Amino acid sequence: MSGKYLVTGGAGYVGSVVARHLLEAGAEVVVLDNLSTGFREGVPTGASFIEGDIRDAAKWLDSSFDAVLHFAAFSQVGESVVKPEKYWDNNVGGTMALLGAMREAGVRKLVFSSTAATYGEPKEVPIVESAPTQPTNPYGASKLAVDHMITGEAVAHGLGAVSLRYFNVAGAYGDCGERHDPESHLIPLVLQVAQGKRDAISVYGDDYPTPDGTCVRDYIHVADLAEAHLLALEAAQPGEHLICNLGNGNGFSVRQVVETVRQVTGHPIPEVIAPRRGGDPAVLVASADTARERLGWKPSRADLAGIVADAWEFAQRRAG
Ligand SMILES: NC(=O)c1ccc[n+]([C@@H]2O[C@H](COP(=O)([O-])OP(=O)(O)OC[C@H]3O[C@@H](n4cnc5c(N)ncnc54)[C@H](O)[C@@H]3O)[C@@H](O)[C@H]2O)c1
Repeated sequence: MSGKYLVTGGAGYVGSVVARHLLEAGAEVVVLDNLSTGFREGVPTGASFIEGDIRDAAKWLDSSFDAVLHFAAFSQVGESVVKPEKYWDNNVGGTMALLGAMREAGVRKLVFSSTAATYGEPKEVPIVESAPTQPTNPYGASKLAVDHMITGEAVAHGLGAVSLRYFNVAGAYGDCGERHDPESHLIPLVLQVAQGKRDAISVYGDDYPTPDGTCVRDYIHVADLAEAHLLALEAAQPGEHLICNLGNGNGFSVRQVVETVRQVTGHPIPEVIAPRRGGDPAVLVASADTARERLGWKPSRADLAGIVADAWEFAQRRAG
């Protein structure tokens, strides 16, 4: 794969894995990241690194870039509820500046990290892209606002764009893995219990209308997700904003995840039942038919034990 790509947020979890896939495919990669939640050492070897903010993207973007892959954002749902302004400023304001810089520089292709949180509480599962979008928190609302902004940019200014709505991203790819601080994602949290960093895992609600009473989510391996980004770069068409869900179409409950971590790590994982969290839907499972049909995407790492094993190996390596 030839070409030069700007990866915003490439020092973070997903962006670093996608940057690595781009490099492995032969592309030239420039990472732009302000290290607000990312790590300098997360930037893969071979990528150029600019420590900077997407709001200043005009300083570095020029017509030598073929496309932008845009991961930079704040993504803590709970924080977005108490500090919504932080999310509108960074996620929406930052993307507006980035789109302006792309327009000025004549860079006319974008792949954007959207989220299942744009849908809110689904009326039907699996969730298709035409489902109502009624986010239940400012994080999801900020991502939905950006999706609308991108649609306008495609219609008015000919941008070719693909928004990928991730479900629960998990697993690791070599030395690129999940290290959010604070961590809010289930698999790394349960692995912290296995490592002795936490006493128990809190299970938020065991009275949902699901087979075992706990919430059901669709876990997708970060390497499968990365492959979809490379396909999206090929699929982006001038003037079109394509939106694709990315998930495996299989739901696993919190209890199934905890049990899988017990099996993979060999550690007992104590559970503590806690009250439900507001705005947590019972079931979030993707229909990824659009990604299969429009991108030709075929996830190949859907096995939950394999996803957990990769995340465990990464967590152990970091701890060791
Ligand atoms: N991890 C998931 O399960 C998941 C699910 C759905 C959507 N997403 C989206 O995917 C993207 C990546 O998520 P992640 O889990 O890798 O998060 P992350 O926090 O690990 O990475 C985000 C990166 O963006 C950088 N950043 C933030 N604001 C910036 C700014 N203004 N300028 C420059 N850099 C900035 C951070 O320093 C960080 O390196 C986010 O947009 C997130 O909303 C993630």
